Amino acid sequence: MTKLLLINSSVFGNDGQSSRLADDFVARWRRQAPDLAVTRRILSDEPLSHLTDERFRAALTPAAERTPGQQREAEPADAAVQELLDADVLVLGVPVYNFHVPSTLKAWFDHVARAGTTFRYTANGPEGLLTGKRAYVFVTSGGRYSGTDADFVTPYIKHFLAFLGIEDVEFIRAEGLAMGEDAARGALDEAAERIARLAA
Ligand SMILES: Cc1cc2nc3c(=O)[nH]c(=O)nc-3n(C[C@H](O)[C@H](O)[C@H](O)COP(=O)(O)O)c2cc1C
Repeated sequence: MTKLLLINSSVFGNDGQSSRLADDFVARWRRQAPDLAVTRRILSDEPLSHLTDERFRAALTPAAERTPGQQREAEPADAAVQELLDADVLVLGVPVYNFHVPSTLKAWFDHVARAGTTFRYTANGPEGLLTGKRAYVFVTSGGRYSGTDADFVTPYIKHFLAFLGIEDVEFIRAEGLAMGEDAARGALDEAAERIARLAA
């Protein structure tokens, strides 16, 4: 059984354009493989809080040594880390907001990058511990950034996932969604075709 973790980060929840692409991909995959186990997190409905000194320390304190307060602080991040550890496949729905990933996704990244659990420091630099996983990242944007200096999102996500050890990453983009109806329809149709091929 394959375990898939779906993280949608649009402020529009299920109605987000990025969410719809990611959801469509997962739904198609599920039709092919009914035993696919899907965990779905909609960050607009249940965001992880920003890191604070207390939360960061609580997260890095071994569970058996935490105070009850630290345990409470660490629980949401512990759950997010466990979901990622359990997953074989990670699917991200990512709109471009102000040239970057939504802050809810950044907060999720901040919590799941846990030294000693999802990566570790070595004499040769950091080493990702999440090897053997695959990721599919659905990126939507009003403008077009592919291949330009203003593409801060896909290189960042690629780098971050590789830092955790996830090197097998497929990006599916729908760009120019605010550049007129024809451009938007073309980009969404193209993304839909790729999704159909990927999920086949
Ligand atoms: C708060 C906000 C900021 C945005 N910033 C950008 C941006 O910097 N560049 C861009 O191309 N589009 C921007 N857009 C447009 C979105 O990237 C585009 O509509 C995307 O498809 C939204 O995906 P979603 O429906 O999944 O949230 C922005 C939209 C919102 C709501």
